Amino acid sequence: MTALEKINATPSRLGGTALYDWDYLVQEDRAHRLIYTDPAIFEAEMTHIFGGTWTYLAHESEIPNDNDFITRRMGLRPLIIVRDQNGKVRALYNRCTHRGTTLCRWDKGNSKSFQCPYHGWNFLNTGKLRGVPWPEGYAADMRDPKYNLAQVPRVESYRGFIFGTLNMDALPLVEHLGAIAPIIDEWLDRNPGGKVVVCEANRFRYKGNWKLAYDNSCDGYHVAYSHRSLLETENRFAGDNAKGMAYYKNSPDSLAMYMRYTGHGNHFKDKRPNLEKRPGGLWALESAHPGMEHYEADFIRRFGDRAFSLLDLAGSEPVNINVFPNFSLLGNHIQVFEPVSVEETNAIWYGTMVVDDGTLGDAATDINALRMRTQEGFPNFGEVDDIANFEQIQRGLMALEDEWVYMHRGLGIPDRVKTHADGTITAPATDEAFMREHFKEWKRLMKARPNLAIEREP
Ligand code: FES
Ligand SMILES: [Fe+2]
Repeated sequence: MTALEKINATPSRLGGTALYDWDYLVQEDRAHRLIYTDPAIFEAEMTHIFGGTWTYLAHESEIPNDNDFITRRMGLRPLIIVRDQNGKVRALYNRCTHRGTTLCRWDKGNSKSFQCPYHGWNFLNTGKLRGVPWPEGYAADMRDPKYNLAQVPRVESYRGFIFGTLNMDALPLVEHLGAIAPIIDEWLDRNPGGKVVVCEANRFRYKGNWKLAYDNSCDGYHVAYSHRSLLETENRFAGDNAKGMAYYKNSPDSLAMYMRYTGHGNHFKDKRPNLEKRPGGLWALESAHPGMEHYEADFIRRFGDRAFSLLDLAGSEPVNINVFPNFSLLGNHIQVFEPVSVEETNAIWYGTMVVDDGTLGDAATDINALRMRTQEGFPNFGEVDDIANFEQIQRGLMALEDEWVYMHRGLGIPDRVKTHADGTITAPATDEAFMREHFKEWKRLMKARPNLAIEREP
């Protein structure tokens, strides 16, 4: 039994946004600047979005053993994601119940308990208060559950990806993921054993609202312009525009790639149909990086016919798989958006490694070394272009009187945006249909009165 505490969002918790006209602020073809700049709307999002729906927290491979932990956030809430001494994954509030200080100040580690640095209260990694210094100084019963750490009441994993929500009425995670779940399966199943291990991250922080990153996560319209220098660099020695995302350069909407909206704010950009389906088809797209010819020759020498399918495991899968509000699978990376304030956001790119399931022989280490080179590619030479755009949008939105941003590319053109029998929506790669759809979900969540709760050990 766990002690549930209802924290239903009240008008006061909405930070004064109860009177906002959400249907005015977000219309079918446009959004008002206030949703990116208003601190009260940001504060409401930290309850209605980050808390009110499933948000990505961590990957199970980051806490493989009992008592492993890492510190993360859900919106602004500091959390300790821990595999407790009984193997259960929990998301504990990283906040001492005594005076509120950050309980655990490490990024990660392994511990059965956490001792508060301030006055020494000690908590088991189940969240239960284990003891306090000089307990004879308290008349109160310190076994009262209210002194145990708060924790996220619903924590669920989908094939290693750990999500959490405070909303007791949210759908089970797998139903919430819905049609994006089999797309995540495909991303995983190309790897041996159908899994990856998460490794260290490239960490960026930009001066702009978190939604600017999610709005861009499926945007195929900007690539040829915003990433022009990256495309030129990638293709400098390739001759015929063969490398990286060169397929965006001419008439991207005439190609087989497309976007698909799968519901609940989630979407998918599938660029795989642009590729040649053959061993080495993905590897052939990789732009020049140091040492790759050496690795390729060595793989051919060691593995013969298998060399190119093994090298494909090092290539970046050409997909963007986005789970609203804070998670993307891009290439071989997991990207996570962390709001910091209404005008500041962390964008973190975790690398992933393949694991030898008995079929890779001694290739795994070399494949992973090459995957680290792809970690140096887009995150360093592409993400900076995107972040420059986000910061410049935030600056542009300070022009108070010019109130709207538009997202109507593709809207109103017959047969361009298609709704399918399974409820998913597809459109050409440069269409903004994905954004119009995820804003419907944003608006639904902002209007709702979410049934939020925290829990504590009894
Ligand atoms: S704030 Fe943690 S023990 Fe006092
Ligand atoms: Fe981009």
